Amino acid sequence: MLGARSQAAGGAPAVRGSTAGAGAWPGTVPAVTPVPQAPPAMELASVCSHPGWCVTTLGLALLLWVKRRWSWQPRHCPTDLSGKTAIVTGANSGIGKCVALDLARRNARTILACRSQERGQAAVVEIQRATGNPHVLLRLVDTSSMASVRHFAHQVLQEEERLDILVNNAGLTGLPFSITAEGLEVTFATNHLGPFLLTNLLLDLLRRSAPARIVNVSSFKHKTGKIDLQELTGRKKPPNVYRVYNSTKLMNILFTNELARRLQGTGVTVNALNPGVVRTEIMRHFSWPARALFTLAGLLIKTPKEGATSTIYCAVSEEVSGVTGKYFDSDCALVLPVAPARDPVLARKLWEVSEQLTGLGEGLSKAPTALGRRRQTGDELGLGEAGVPEEGR
Ligand SMILES: NC(=O)c1ccc[n+]([C@@H]2O[C@H](COP(=O)([O-])OP(=O)(O)OC[C@H]3O[C@@H](n4cnc5c(N)ncnc54)[C@H](OP(=O)(O)O)[C@@H]3O)[C@@H](O)[C@H]2O)c1
Repeated sequence: MLGARSQAAGGAPAVRGSTAGAGAWPGTVPAVTPVPQAPPAMELASVCSHPGWCVTTLGLALLLWVKRRWSWQPRHCPTDLSGKTAIVTGANSGIGKCVALDLARRNARTILACRSQERGQAAVVEIQRATGNPHVLLRLVDTSSMASVRHFAHQVLQEEERLDILVNNAGLTGLPFSITAEGLEVTFATNHLGPFLLTNLLLDLLRRSAPARIVNVSSFKHKTGKIDLQELTGRKKPPNVYRVYNSTKLMNILFTNELARRLQGTGVTVNALNPGVVRTEIMRHFSWPARALFTLAGLLIKTPKEGATSTIYCAVSEEVSGVTGKYFDSDCALVLPVAPARDPVLARKLWEVSEQLTGLGEGLSKAPTALGRRRQTGDELGLGEAGVPEEGR
């Protein structure tokens, strides 16, 4: 085309990529037409549009689709929860709301444990409308505050005759480093200590209602978690916001394992799971570019309903009946978490530290302000900086 155009304009025929040696008239300056260079973006586009890529992408998409279709689906599970009571923390949005909706649909008395009256009540109305279940109710709890957790547990113990399912779902990430009024690192308190205390305070009720299930929502992020008590009690600033979150998700699994060991023979089971990467409000505390990227990726990742599947599986499926101390992935498959998550010595140490930090064992009425005084260094509690118990090294 280029050659044709220059000829039509009356010039010598263009030769692609070189001076016009052989075809040029003697004495004339040969016409030179530079080879058009594709901009990098076009080069990338041409590589990506290679048939090999298309076939591979289609193949992978098909595999993913088949895997998802064949994995366990809540709608195929006939479990009915009439006469049973369930608590879901953080039930006003994302995964928690979908889990609460499913349990309410199965006729459970469903308690939405949320920190906001407004958001929690909106979820109650939505779930009641969708399921027709009038026994969906809101109780307020802030899992970052041990005083609030104690108040909530006290209320549940006063009001409820039984508790069949406890889903520890509330969690957050991306908050800047900060210390609560009770002297605890806020993400650590919200994601680990709050659920730890809540579960322990409700254990007797769960035992009396056996068979009962406890479900802890962890994450694949546990793989890069580390247990450094100095960071988690705010004595040392963690290198970044991800570190604390990942560590709390590791703790969710260690807590699950130690609790399962302690609950052997009681009929109360406890399991942890990874919901996968799910399009929820979990990124709300991140910078806008990170949120924008997550929103874009949202087209590829799980919806909240899909993301709730592994939690519902652990809470109601026949398959998990009697199974305890395990970790399930987002497709409801039983998988092994990383080695530190399976370390019984670390699990026991974390339990002891968590007991001390929450004041567990001193009764429901213990003043939360005493927590600050009880904070100890990692060395005093036998957890070194690397998070490995001294005797386990
Ligand atoms: N989304 C993912 O890709 C993903 C991946 C792995 C694991 N997870 C885990 O899944 C769980 C649910 O998260 P999500 O993705 O559904 O996120 P989400 O939409 O942000 O929901 C989190 C819920 O937790 C509640 N919450 C946060 N802090 C709380 C506190 N101090 N006290 C009481 N409730 C509190 C939130 O309440 P407010 O609305 O009042 O803030 C909200 O209801 C979390 O444990 C998270 O770590 C999520």
